[in-house]
Parts: sequence; structure tokens; C-alpha cells
Amino acid sequence: MAMRIATFLVILLSVFEHSAAGELFNVRQHLSTVSRYGAVKEFADSAFVPSKVPDGCSPIHLNLVARHGTRSPTKKRMRELDNLATHLESLLRDVKEQNLSLKKVPAWLWGWKSPWKGKVTGGELTDVGEIELYHLGIRIRERFPDLFNEEYHPDVFTIKATQVPRASASAVAFGMGLFSGRGSLGPGHQRAFAVTSESRASDILLRFFDCCQNYKDFRKSQEPAVDELKEPIFDEITATLRKRYGLNFTRQDASSLWFLCKQEASLLDITDQACGLFSPSEVALLEWTDDLELFILKGYGKSLNYRMGVPLLKDVFESMAQAIKAKEENYAPGSYEKARLRFAHAETVVPFSCLLGLFLEQSEFKQILREEPLQYPPKPPQKRNWRGSTVAPFAGNNMLVLYSCPANSSSKYFVQVLHNEHPIPMPGCDNSDLCPFEVFKERIVTPHMKHEYSAVCNVKLEKPELKPAMSKLSQLFHWLFSQRNDDTRSLKVDL
Ligand SMILES: *[C@@H]1O[C@H](CO)[C@@H](O)[C@H](O)[C@H]1NC(C)=O
Ligand SMILES: *[C@@H]1O[C@H](CO)[C@@H](O)[C@H](O)[C@H]1NC(C)=O
Ligand SMILES: *[C@@H]1O[C@H](CO)[C@@H](O)[C@H](O)[C@H]1NC(C)=O
Repeated sequence: MAMRIATFLVILLSVFEHSAAGELFNVRQHLSTVSRYGAVKEFADSAFVPSKVPDGCSPIHLNLVARHGTRSPTKKRMRELDNLATHLESLLRDVKEQNLSLKKVPAWLWGWKSPWKGKVTGGELTDVGEIELYHLGIRIRERFPDLFNEEYHPDVFTIKATQVPRASASAVAFGMGLFSGRGSLGPGHQRAFAVTSESRASDILLRFFDCCQNYKDFRKSQEPAVDELKEPIFDEITATLRKRYGLNFTRQDASSLWFLCKQEASLLDITDQACGLFSPSEVALLEWTDDLELFILKGYGKSLNYRMGVPLLKDVFESMAQAIKAKEENYAPGSYEKARLRFAHAETVVPFSCLLGLFLEQSEFKQILREEPLQYPPKPPQKRNWRGSTVAPFAGNNMLVLYSCPANSSSKYFVQVLHNEHPIPMPGCDNSDLCPFEVFKERIVTPHMKHEYSAVCNVKLEKPELKPAMSKLSQLFHWLFSQRNDDTRSLKVDL
């Protein structure tokens, strides 16, 4: 009897231990931009208390900028996993031939093949991705019944996607949720709705990164530097993996295994294979390398990254201005837009969040306005605001809700920003999530408006006017100085 109780206690204890660890560390919440929406959506800043929308206010317009849902790996990445399989096989063969211990080798590695082996197409929206967007559509309709109870017309509910299939499929999945039960098609009473796209080559609203030569050049030039920043982390982790599992892994293997972990966890719900190779603190470091890359190549790391998104910010702002005009001038119902819904990419959502100044401290917002560079996100275990899993998970989104508040003495219109459906502070608006329209305009939108897309993107080199005062020598100094600045910036990184 005593024995039985003891066994029972041991089991009970191990269950407790397990669930406690599970609560503390869930690898699904540490996959940077490969995180599934459902795994991270509830991760709002718990210290932040959202504003109460004043009584008598009603939403009159909604802007949505969303990333496509969970997608399968691209062709290039699938090839990387096939190469990993080949290399793992040869590592296991070496160990056998040298009669080394196989005790430490995780069982799943034997005969492992990429789950995507033989698949010839990639990058498409998965079933999980469809569900993410479908339910987002349903939730938005439930949350804003005043906006979405109106009869569908393509000019009232504008739906735009990029010309990339996973983005347009996301728009369709969202619309099926948003308008479900409203039509006459099939048992689900679906209805048809329009999703329009610009040509990839000229879509400066949603694929501004693809039309921006300066950005493409910048990315290409920065990629080696980003790899260099990540290298020490990968070297350290590679060495640990070798010892831990008795296999002669290369740095490339470590990198591919981290990629595999993210894909397994997000797409296949497997967290005890590739993810199981890494300890929580290693995952935290790997996540940080991804977040750092996101920051440098798509986020606050370089003003070009978000300045090229100014046409989108302008489009959002103008849609609000039109909605206000429609309200002020009492347009007939059905004759004006109530929502502009956009489906695009991480490269769209991240710069757009930066233009709004999200995830910054107030002091950093001021630095951005003064065009001063920001520090890189600090290395764990230090805390950081900039997390890819929050900034742009699959289906990650920003909603800007325009409220009409006829009874308010200070402002008749307010803008509320929801990030992944949660109110989020705007450092540009005294850290409130609810901003008087005029303040939103003056402090957040207007400072960016001086930047023309064509100037930001197409002008290949800054050509200082050759005034007599600006000699060749002083130009050289200017060049040297700006180079040096770049260097000091990268030295700031605490690796
Ligand atoms: C490994 O063990 C086998 C059988 O015990 C032996 O024939 C072979 O020579 C050994 N190889 C090495 C590299 O020690
Ligand atoms: C591990 O692999 C590297 C090449 O990737 C090789 O240079 C090294 O000798 C190998 N070490 C062992 C112990 O097999
Ligand atoms: C007007 O809006 C502000 C900001 O939300 C709020 O603090 C204030 O109480 C409102 N005034 C009225 C009369 O509703």
C-alpha cells in the first residue's frame, strides 16, 4: 500500500513537473514569424490597460492590413531540408563506421526524410492558414456589427490582396468568414465577393518592397552582415549539439534543424523532434537571431524599410478622411466605404507597424522622428518589445478603427489601433491605443508624408548638389563619416 502511494506520488509529481514546464516554455510561441496565429494571438502586453471607448462613439470605418495565414515552406527551403536529410544520413554512417556510441542519437533521426520530400510546389496557404483567416473574418464581423451589417457591395467593403496566391487565398478565406450566412450559395449560404490585386510589378501599396530598387539593393548588401551577426550564436549552439548528440553537425545543419523545428511545430504540430534538440534557452537565442534579422531587414533597423511603405499609410489615412467626409456630409447608406481590407505579407505588415510607431518606447519614437538609428533588440535573457512572433506571425494584422464621437468635446473622431486584435499603445499618441484623429494625423501620419516613394526607392545614389562649397574632399569626409556611423552601429550589438 505504501509502495502504491509512493508510485502514485511519483507519477503525480512528474505530471506536475511536466505541465509546469509546459506553461513556462511553449516552443510554439518562440518561432518568430513562423508562429501560427493561434499560438501567439493571446500574447498581448498584460501590463497595458486599453482605453475605454467613450460612450456614444461608434465605429464608422475599419482598415485592415493582414499577413497571409500559415503557409507551407517554399521550394528553396524544401530543398534545404532534403540536403539536411542527406547530410544526417552521412553523419549517422560515420558514427557507425567509427564504432562510436549511438546512445545519444535521438531515435527519430534514423532514416529521417523531409516530410515535404518529393513535393514540387511550395509557399501555398495551408488548411491551418485558411482557418486562421476564416475565423478572423467571423470575429471581426462579431466585434463590429455596425460596420458589417450592411449589404455587401464591392465599394462598401473593399478587399485587396497582392498577386501572390497565398495572399489572395487568405483574402478569400477571410471573406468566406466575414460574409458567411449572408448569401445564397450552398448550404453555408456563402456569397461571392470581389478581391482585387494590382500587378506585382507596380503594387506600391502592398508590395512596395518588390518595386523598390533601393530596398532590394539594401537587402542584398546587408544579408552577409546579418549572417555574421548570427554566426556566433550558431557556432555556440552547433558545438553544444555535437556534444549533446554525438554527431558531427555543421553550422548549416544547426540552422536547418532550427528551420525544421519551426516548420514541424507550426505546420505539423510536432514539437518533440527537431524542436526537442534545443533547450529552451537555445530556442530563445535562435528566436532572437530571427527577430534581429527581421529588425534589420524589414523593421526599424533602417528607415528605408518602412519609408517605402508610405503609400500604404497614405492610402489608410485617405480612406479615413473619406469616411469622415461621408459622415459629415450625411452620404446615403451604401454610397461610401466602411472597410478596406488588405491581405499581403510580413514585408507589408512589419513596415506598416513601424510607420505607426508600434513596439517602440516613447523615447525611441522621438529618435525615429529625429532620424536617429535605434539600438538592436537586446539579446536574451534581456527583455525586448521586438518579437517576430508578435509583430508578424502568420495572419498577423493591424486594424485601424475609426470612431465617430459626436458628443465628445475634445475630438469628434478617434483612431484605435488593434494589433492581432488587441488594443496596442501608440508611442506617438502618448502611449494610448485610442488617438484623437487630429493628433493621429499630426504626430503619426504627417511626419512621414514628406517622403515620396519615387525618391525613397528609385533614386539610386544620393547625389549632393555640387555647390562650390561642397568640394570633393568634403564629400569624401561625408562619405567616410556616414560609413563610420554604420560601423559604430553594428558594434552596439551585444553578442
Ligand atoms: C568496428 O567494429 C567492427 C566489429 O567489431 C570491426 O570489424 C571494425 O574494424 C571496427 N572499426 C573501427 C574503425 O574501429
Ligand atoms: C567534423 O566535420 C568536419 C567537416 O565538416 C571535419 O573537418 C572534422 O574533422 C569532423 N570531425 C570529426 C570528429 O569527425
Ligand atoms: C472625449 O474623449 C476623451 C478621450 O477618450 C475622454 O477622455 C473624454 O472623457 C471624452 N469626453 C466626453 C464628453 O465623452
